[in-house]
Amino acid sequence: MDTRNIILVGFMGSGKSSTGRYVAGKLGRPFLDMDTEIERREGRAIPEIFAQSGEPYFRQLERALVQELAARAGLVIAPGGGIVLNPDNVRDFAARGLVVNLRVSPEWVLKRVGQDPNRPLLQGGDPLQRIRELMEKRKALYAAVPHQLETDGLTPEAVGDRVLALFRKTYSE
Ligand code: S3P
Repeated sequence: MDTRNIILVGFMGSGKSSTGRYVAGKLGRPFLDMDTEIERREGRAIPEIFAQSGEPYFRQLERALVQELAARAGLVIAPGGGIVLNPDNVRDFAARGLVVNLRVSPEWVLKRVGQDPNRPLLQGGDPLQRIRELMEKRKALYAAVPHQLETDGLTPEAVGDRVLALFRKTYSE
């Protein structure tokens, strides 16, 4: 089986982590959640990093971790939803791996993570409105990801099976 990384990008609440864990289990590979890894290295949670050091600092940490992980193989990776803000991140991952955007509607994001206090960018105001605005701003960036899969109404296992099929198809041709 091919050892290229599988990278699941997508908006908050698209199911990157749960799907990634499932895919990694099926392939017998390590799963790496970038937010969790950043929290572990920093010794503080994402909302604290945003509040104490600011978003640009967090984006630098993300960028450095992408460069590190893109140089490795055999991983299933779930980056944070904002990874697409720097197109170099997608480019570096895509150079040596399968990058899939898990598409999700604002309504499903709300269902999955709308009330979660650990998403600093969704705090304040009407959550559905915040989700719509942020998604609209990033629309072109997510659309530029090489592969796209729908997730609305699907379980992580159902999405994961589609990721696995895409992986096999892409690298057996
Ligand atoms: C962010 C998404 C979050 C986390 C941070 C910023 C974003 O990750 O990295 O709160 O900019 O979309 P999840 O997509 O795992 O929620």
